[in-house]
Amino acid sequence: MTIDLNRARRETPGSEHVLHFNNAGSALMPQPVLDAQIDHLQLEARIGGYESAARARDGVERVYGAAAELIGAKTDEIAIIENATRAWDMAFYSIPFEPGDRILTAMAEYGSNYIAYLQIACKTGAVVEVIPNDEHGQTSVDALKEMIDERVKLISITHVPTNGGLVNPANAIGKVAREAGILYLVDACQSVGQLPVNVDKMGCDMLSTTGRKYLRGPRGTGFLYVREEVLERLEPPFLDMRAATWVDKGHYEIVGNAKRFENWETNYAAKIGLGVAIDYALEWGIENIWERVQSLSERLRGELSSIPGVTLRDLGEVRCGIVTFDVAGRDVAEIKAALEGQNINVTASRPPSTRLDMEARGIAGLVRASVHYYNSEDEVSRFCEVLEGIVA
Ligand SMILES: Cc1ncc(COP(=O)(O)O)c(C=O)c1O
Repeated sequence: MTIDLNRARRETPGSEHVLHFNNAGSALMPQPVLDAQIDHLQLEARIGGYESAARARDGVERVYGAAAELIGAKTDEIAIIENATRAWDMAFYSIPFEPGDRILTAMAEYGSNYIAYLQIACKTGAVVEVIPNDEHGQTSVDALKEMIDERVKLISITHVPTNGGLVNPANAIGKVAREAGILYLVDACQSVGQLPVNVDKMGCDMLSTTGRKYLRGPRGTGFLYVREEVLERLEPPFLDMRAATWVDKGHYEIVGNAKRFENWETNYAAKIGLGVAIDYALEWGIENIWERVQSLSERLRGELSSIPGVTLRDLGEVRCGIVTFDVAGRDVAEIKAALEGQNINVTASRPPSTRLDMEARGIAGLVRASVHYYNSEDEVSRFCEVLEGIVA
């Protein structure tokens, strides 16, 4: 099956109103995701929050099965968490670091993750080291191999960085981690939903992602995968009555599956919406989505490259739906605002999100135009025409 663009656009109400190239920010929700949430909110208002959660139990539970199916995991290995950052944090802060432990990460690591490394390094005496890039600008698997020793406690990388079309070689990195028996954490916030991600092929122990980006789910949703074999070694930094059971006056027992990383109160409408969004993506087929996203983004890169003053900045051997560029002599915020004035959505990326990468490349800002399968070839052309007018 290839993507039926007419159907995809018909089922995306926002596509009538805006040219949305901000799918890596927050994609336009499809109608079924919107409907599922509104229906649940109406049920909550009608019969009560607890009562509606009980009545909608199948929909609430489905999100675990859908997430597991999407990434090739088991249902018990999934925790539904309010965003990718907190999902990642729950895994990272569960690792018992000791003085001298090495944390190996990537050049294009996400700012929030790096802040967490620095905090833990400061508190525990662990050290953070950055794996150099290879000649394609992606994490070098050979350099990683050279860095491995018995002190490496964690390899932790971002699959698709926030500021570019780069797809890091996460599977090859996982092979190194597996062979050395080192914990491997992947921030897949920007890859899940746009390209195939399989936790066994990747060899990761932990993986985090968000709902609102390429999965087209509600804001304020995300999930964490934790491999069942490492679960018992990871004590969550916070525990409550969802994550643990209070068994007697002096004791509690942590639950035996990934729900130990969750907390009790949650947004049920959003949780149901996330399940619907994942099922919707599965129905289109991730391979089909990936094929179309790659083809549209390469088309966009091709058209952008002929606009005078525009420089494309995407790195890597495999490039995804995120297209980044800058414009000679112009600030990215100004370009973003001018596009917004023409009803076109993009993001401006700045160094604090990916400081190591931006500073190494000497880049002060990037325009990030991120396409999804429901975007059209006409939108790519219109985008480039408008941009050409802005930069002229
Ligand atoms: C690579 C990466 N990781 C994590 C996040 C954070 O995701 P969330 O806002 O869902 O916490 C982002 C968001 O832009 C991101 O690009």
